[in-house]
Amino acid sequence: MVCRYGDDLKMMVEQVKQYTSEGKVADYIPALSVADPSKVAVAIYDGNDTCFSEGNFNEKFTLQSISKVLTLALALMDHGEKYVFSKVGMEPTGDPFNSISKLETQIPSKPLNPMINAGALAVSSLIKGSSNEEKLERLLQFVRDLSGNDQISYNKEVAQSEFETADLNRALSYFMKQHGVLTGDVDELLDFYTKQCAIEVNCEDLAKIGFALANQGKHPLQKNDIIPAEIARLVKTFMVTCGMYNASGEFAIRVGIPAKSGVSGGIVGAVPGNIGIGIYGPALDKKGNSVAGMRLLELLSSKYHLSIF
Ligand code: DON
Repeated sequence: MVCRYGDDLKMMVEQVKQYTSEGKVADYIPALSVADPSKVAVAIYDGNDTCFSEGNFNEKFTLQSISKVLTLALALMDHGEKYVFSKVGMEPTGDPFNSISKLETQIPSKPLNPMINAGALAVSSLIKGSSNEEKLERLLQFVRDLSGNDQISYNKEVAQSEFETADLNRALSYFMKQHGVLTGDVDELLDFYTKQCAIEVNCEDLAKIGFALANQGKHPLQKNDIIPAEIARLVKTFMVTCGMYNASGEFAIRVGIPAKSGVSGGIVGAVPGNIGIGIYGPALDKKGNSVAGMRLLELLSSKYHLSIF
């Protein structure tokens, strides 16, 4: 088989491994603290049968904030742009992902964008379904369709661990409920949100999800649209402006790939009209992004000229 990325990937993974010691695994969600910080993995999907993968690519991890791009797409499909953006804004914050400060200074009070926790909670409250089970099943089916992996489910232990310790997210939700951004029972919302964040994938699943986002929402193998092209475009734009939180500006300059990170150490990348990238490296920098993963994306972008700018 002609291997377009194979040899390079091996070298790049070796090269970025040294940076894992500069980061720390997330421990504010207790179940995430057991991850091995030395792990690094990458998968690239170009729409053909298999991924180009290197490192610990079979390792499973939870989506965490990467799920925010998927709930945003689903909420937009459920309600359309006008309604969704009456609840959440379109501007980057420059603040940490779990910050509450801008909620108080914005008038009317609504979260600035769907990638920060406040915005993602508001978006999750919009997912259609008569119960949390139904909402979660719809979301899981969506992720299975995008990744072509029917086995995808959520990690109960991680979900429970976050549910028991999510007081900051509860505070954000109560604040937004008071200001009419969301309605309903906050603990019900937290139950759904923590399960959404605990959806479990590996790098190859992520690369396939990234490919679908990169290619107008089409399924990697069946070529049927899972996400309308306009919504895929919109979601990718948020990935550029807010996907790496308060590191999004530097990331756009150094890497220039629409991407979204999660505190489990995953990063999904979507190079428009081209490949999907899945990364795993649980050692995080202070802003909550994978240290080795960011370096790896920088190497990939420069080697294959992947920046959209
Ligand atoms: O709500 C939280 O804090 C987590 N479930 C997700 C945060 C996250 O992944 C931020 N990403 N870098």
